[in-house]
Amino acid sequence: MRVFVTGASGWIGSAVVPELIGAGHQVSGLARSDAAAAALSAAGAQVQRGTLDDLGGLRSAADASDGVIHLAFKHDIAFSGGFQHAAEADRRAIEAFGEVLAGSGRPFIIASGTLGIAPGRLATERDDGHGPGSVAALSGSGPAMRLANAEMTLSFASRGVRSSVLRLPPTVHGEGDNGFMAALVGMARGSGVSGYLGDGSNRWPAVHRIDAAHLFRLALEQAPAGSVLHAVADEGVPIREIAEVIGRHLDVPVASVPPAQAGGQFGFLAGFVGVDAPASSELTRELLGWQPTHPGLIDDLDKGHYFDSPSA
Ligand SMILES: NC(=O)c1ccc[n+]([C@@H]2O[C@H](COP(=O)([O-])OP(=O)(O)OC[C@H]3O[C@@H](n4cnc5c(N)ncnc54)[C@H](OP(=O)(O)O)[C@@H]3O)[C@@H](O)[C@H]2O)c1
Repeated sequence: MRVFVTGASGWIGSAVVPELIGAGHQVSGLARSDAAAAALSAAGAQVQRGTLDDLGGLRSAADASDGVIHLAFKHDIAFSGGFQHAAEADRRAIEAFGEVLAGSGRPFIIASGTLGIAPGRLATERDDGHGPGSVAALSGSGPAMRLANAEMTLSFASRGVRSSVLRLPPTVHGEGDNGFMAALVGMARGSGVSGYLGDGSNRWPAVHRIDAAHLFRLALEQAPAGSVLHAVADEGVPIREIAEVIGRHLDVPVASVPPAQAGGQFGFLAGFVGVDAPASSELTRELLGWQPTHPGLIDDLDKGHYFDSPSA
């Protein structure tokens, strides 16, 4: 297939591109900078120059493709106070793809998240994020807007698009990770304490980046219209276990952080560290035969690469 990938230069996209090319697909990747364009060319992809706001460019790239994988998200703006702006830009891009792909039967996959889908219990692909305490309750917030974007994507199934939503756990880990796990390591290094909240028994699901990339390819090739998929390898790793591995590698004490000090210890992660958000991928595995083969979160942390760089 000729596949148009947005966010092709990102953490997950840069694993998805070689996964697709390795399986014989042709990739055209959206690039907003020279650096991203060079990385995509080096990976063997064609380059579609433009940004998420260039809806005409997105439409023509989608039109020229046999399928679209949408991974771009304005994280830079979202995590500096502009989450709603980022979610709105995401919606406009998704709408544009829906218009172009309607009636074509072509695949359209977007990235979404498992966090907030069913807090406090094992979230499955059947959960819609509207239960008690879930993300939809934060009406008008960026995360609730992203949930609505995912629902819009699924609705394209009734307009002749083979659309699916692939939910990622809050940690998509691997060598080079600059996300939540690297942030926790940096916070423990900076404060001299590897912390958790309460008794640390709350759980986070996880997936290795390469396993996630593989699932994006399976979704492109096989997922029926309207599928919700979970790229979950570890259903729920207790945050205390994560803190213990980090403490051991950095040789710092592991401790429960009092709620009043959570902001100081965890910064932008303070609202996430105490969340219990296990998730299952049983239905995804049954549907697509996906089987994660790369190290789980604890084994990956134990490999040591998260602790190599003092800036991590
Ligand atoms: N990583 C996780 O743990 C995780 C968990 C749940 C959900 N997700 C979702 O999965 C998707 C991919 O995440 P990721 O971790 O790969 O993110 P990432 O590393 O931040 O990559 C984001 C991608 O979007 C591109 N981008 C950002 N703003 C853009 C704009 N205005 N125009 C065009 N492209 C733009 C970036 O381009 P540049 O290379 O030019 O910056 C990059 O390619 C996102 O939707 C994310 O929210 C990720």
